[in-house]
Amino acid sequence: MAAASTRAAHDKVRVIFLGPPGAGKGTQAVRLATHLGVPKISTGEMLRTAIAKSTPLGREAGPLMEQGRLVPDALLVKLIGERTAEGDCRLGFVLDGFPRTLPQAEGLEQMPGGDPRGFIVFDFQVPREELMQRLSGRRWCPSCQATYHVTNDPPKRPMICDVCGSGLVQREDDLEAVVERRLREYDERTHPLIEYYRSRARMRPIDGNRPQDAVFQGLLQAVEACA
Ligand code: AP5
Repeated sequence: MAAASTRAAHDKVRVIFLGPPGAGKGTQAVRLATHLGVPKISTGEMLRTAIAKSTPLGREAGPLMEQGRLVPDALLVKLIGERTAEGDCRLGFVLDGFPRTLPQAEGLEQMPGGDPRGFIVFDFQVPREELMQRLSGRRWCPSCQATYHVTNDPPKRPMICDVCGSGLVQREDDLEAVVERRLREYDERTHPLIEYYRSRARMRPIDGNRPQDAVFQGLLQAVEACA
């Protein structure tokens, strides 16, 4: 009922999640997209799938991701241009992890429906020490990409995915040295997007340092207020 009324209030819902690694973007993107009835588009997931399938994109992205570096802008802009042109994006989408650099934001702006004024941009804010704690405890399902945390959000059976029953693992880029590099990439290349979108889109800060349900309620209220 709540989902239907939210959907009815919007013609198109285009959402961007900005925030550092571990801020809870992926966790909330699934919930918000499901609630709104639009697809969740996670570039990290798309790249990990490409690596698993050893596609040309995956072979190029794999070594960079292992080091915590960003994948070249042109590849990401092409990937998102193709994905958002698919029929299921007609009523909108939730972008998790894109754009992540100024050239990517400019690339998005050139796409059909890419006018930033049509987007709600959420800036997830979480203290650094909490990010480190979340990333070191994150466990991930390589089959269906569901995400857990050893203490904050454990699976029902230890190290077994609730969704598909596969064994959980730690993501290679969640090792401490790689996390430090990812945080540097965020500070230098993604954080400037907050300023970029402040004057161009409907920008909303989100306190991500709360229980997951409270973060989700904050997102829903902000989406309603933007309708
Ligand atoms: P990507 O997969 O997008 O990684 P990220 O942005 O670094 O984000 P994370 O997945 O680490 O964190 P999250 O914010 O989604 O947090 P989560 O919900 O999982 O990208 C990976 C790599 O791909 C990049 O490093 C780059 O190489 C490449 N890439 C991707 N997009 C790219 C682009 N556009 N351009 C170039 N390269 C790109 O939560 C984290 C943990 O915390 C979980 O264990 C969760 O259970 C727990 N948790 C969540 N919410 C809460 C809460 N409220 N309280 C307590 N715990 C919580």
